[in-house]
Amino acid sequence: MSTLTSPLPKVYESAQDFMPINGTDYLELYVSNSKQAAHFYKTAFGFQSLAYAGLETGLKDRESYVLAQDKIRLVLTSPLRSGTDIGKHIDKHGDGVKVTALWVDDATYAYNEAMKRGATSYMEPIIEEDEDGKVVRSGIYTYGETVHVFVERKDYNGIFLPGYKKWETTYNPESVGLKFVDHMVGNVELGKMDYWVEFYEKVLGFVNILSFDDNDISTEYTALMSKVMSNGNGRIKFPINEPAAGIKKSQVDEYLDFYEGAGVQHIAVATDDVVKTVTELQKRGIEFLRVPTTYYDVLEDRVGKIDEDIDSLRELGILVDRDDEGYLLQIFTKPVEPRPTMFFEIIQRKGAHSFGKGNFKALFEAIEREQELRGTL
Ligand code: FE2
Repeated sequence: MSTLTSPLPKVYESAQDFMPINGTDYLELYVSNSKQAAHFYKTAFGFQSLAYAGLETGLKDRESYVLAQDKIRLVLTSPLRSGTDIGKHIDKHGDGVKVTALWVDDATYAYNEAMKRGATSYMEPIIEEDEDGKVVRSGIYTYGETVHVFVERKDYNGIFLPGYKKWETTYNPESVGLKFVDHMVGNVELGKMDYWVEFYEKVLGFVNILSFDDNDISTEYTALMSKVMSNGNGRIKFPINEPAAGIKKSQVDEYLDFYEGAGVQHIAVATDDVVKTVTELQKRGIEFLRVPTTYYDVLEDRVGKIDEDIDSLRELGILVDRDDEGYLLQIFTKPVEPRPTMFFEIIQRKGAHSFGKGNFKALFEAIEREQELRGTL
């Protein structure tokens, strides 16, 4: 039983899929030091060196390192001089996700359809070519300064995109078993969640597959609301969070303050052996949010029998939740940059298509403890 073989719930059928999306093509992060960030993602997260573009390939204003792990591609980009749009983005937001690239069959058609349905243009369709063929890319804005780039690569056989060369290196740490992007969550301003829900419905034909209100996601002190948007084949899932009123400042407010606007909150990456993956990540220095060990005392009562050894889960801090279709295992890193903004989720699905609602309370209390330490609660 896995997300790849179990049938999708009925709700996905109402997505329009006028613009079929085959999957996430790449995620581009604007970071202040791409060379060091690349080393971190290789060493700590097990990504492999894939491609490079910069001074050596004729670029004058920026440098990008491309890393891969199974189907996940990360592009890490830094400016090479002052006054660039990339530099301004980093100055305002800190390190963060700029581009979520979507793999489509026809990037011109995708762009034209999205524009017809009310999108704001980021990049008109462009054809990029080299000796390995051609790629068409186009792009639209989503929340904040974040963008979606459509990538059409059916006529391309190169390593990544035209203009990039293979990144040859003797330093190749082993993969930790990350497979693909399961979902990617955006934080938007108070009162803006439904605006972006409608954007994904109208502009990309997505459907709202799940909703959580502040009754689902609240602790004694803080609350948030969330709606999950998906395309029809379920390969692209974008939950959208907004803060809700609480006694203290919610994690979404903290994010919006430090990111200075809406942006990507977390990237959830799938593994098919969460115990092995998380053991390896912890060995390599990745820090995770921890829930009190009492969580595990009642775990089996809550989720029933599971394949995994509960002592291993307790030791690693892995959370479990069950829905009608199966269960899932998940764990969240602490933010991976100085500002308390973006972080990663590691997820293993065993039939469940949901997002771990049963863990929200324990998790948000754990985040509040971190906020307390930062003085931002
Ligand atoms: Fe998530």
